[in-house]
Amino acid sequence: MYDFTTCPDRRNTSSYKYMDMLKMNPQVPEGIIPLSVADMEFKNAPEIAEGVYEYMKNSVLGYTAPTEGFLQAVTDWMKKRHNYEIKKEWIAVSDGVVPALSDLVRATSDEGDGVIILSPVYHPFKQTIEENNRKVVEIDLINKGRTYEIDYDNLEKAASDEKTKTIIFCNPHNPIGHVWTKTELKKVYDICVKNNVFIIDDEIHNDLIMPGYEHTVMAKIAPDAGMHMAVCTAPSKSFNLAGMQTSAIIIENRDIRRLYYKSRGRDHRYSVNVLGMEACRIAYTKCEKWLDECIDVIHENAVYFEEFMKKHFPEIVVYPLEGTYLLWCDFRPWGMDEKQLEEFMTKEALLFVDEGYIFGDSGKGFERFNLACPEFVIEDSLNRLLNAKKH
Ligand SMILES: Cc1ncc(COP(=O)(O)O)c(C=O)c1O
Repeated sequence: MYDFTTCPDRRNTSSYKYMDMLKMNPQVPEGIIPLSVADMEFKNAPEIAEGVYEYMKNSVLGYTAPTEGFLQAVTDWMKKRHNYEIKKEWIAVSDGVVPALSDLVRATSDEGDGVIILSPVYHPFKQTIEENNRKVVEIDLINKGRTYEIDYDNLEKAASDEKTKTIIFCNPHNPIGHVWTKTELKKVYDICVKNNVFIIDDEIHNDLIMPGYEHTVMAKIAPDAGMHMAVCTAPSKSFNLAGMQTSAIIIENRDIRRLYYKSRGRDHRYSVNVLGMEACRIAYTKCEKWLDECIDVIHENAVYFEEFMKKHFPEIVVYPLEGTYLLWCDFRPWGMDEKQLEEFMTKEALLFVDEGYIFGDSGKGFERFNLACPEFVIEDSLNRLLNAKKH
């Protein structure tokens, strides 16, 4: 059994999550743990620190191409965990999924072209499109109470515009925590392929699937599906390695792979982090048990959260956590606008979560809670919410 009950003290470690909290409320007392930025309040699996240290003792940390050990580990992990068979040459490395999104947008569209996103969605999708001078084609997911559906009619309409070249698809979906079913994926895939829209399939959360749900790598949805997409993977969410800045972008289509590298090379980003590759190799080869235990802890936190909210705030809609560790809640029944809600959370409840509006207009009045922390942190956080609301 690994330790998922100790909360590491990250207050003075330049963690963005803590720095953001102190920026929002410099008076925040000691002991308050933020539930925002998507990394974990757990120590890494001990095998990673030990393995990276061993590697450093025996290696030179010079410019290093993707190592054989890293490529093999990614290939084996995809097969074992996702039943997705890939070739090593399909793996394009990146210093993060977000930088790869940008490279892929440039590789698959021209300035002025349209790129689709399904909102509410992880906010850098929109920023990436705008920063590359493409047009954001934003299609709202249809809110059905405790679930969302894709607006296929609008998706088809947008995809059929000949200026629309690409979609950035989040699978599973951050922030709504939904694991797309095969039927949903196939419909999106069919619409995109029929209309020549390249799919950037962001699967950074694909290992974090809650009990009872099944994730499908989109490239497996049809026999040659991989030719029409890039599957963006990384150990960063699953094993809390975001600071290692290493991700594996799986691009089966050789022409797109070449364009991707050309786009990456534009900024002379040829190397990847040698320690990141090693940490990834260790995680994928030695730490699967850590991940499985971690998922159980996140799931228990989600169950606790839902029960607490049902008991004390039955009016608040808590979306089922099917995948990711990010829980989505609809606070609109409290009748506050998004700024009042933010003020209440950060100043009265001392809760530092991600405000729904950052994920698009359709996220206004919602909050995203990061549940990757020891259970006592969730208990303390919800009790602060309860006390603040009573006053
Ligand atoms: C959907 C999604 N993509 C990408 C990222 C970040 O990727 P990276 O840190 O590898 O750039 C996140 C982080 O929260 C995410 O939720």
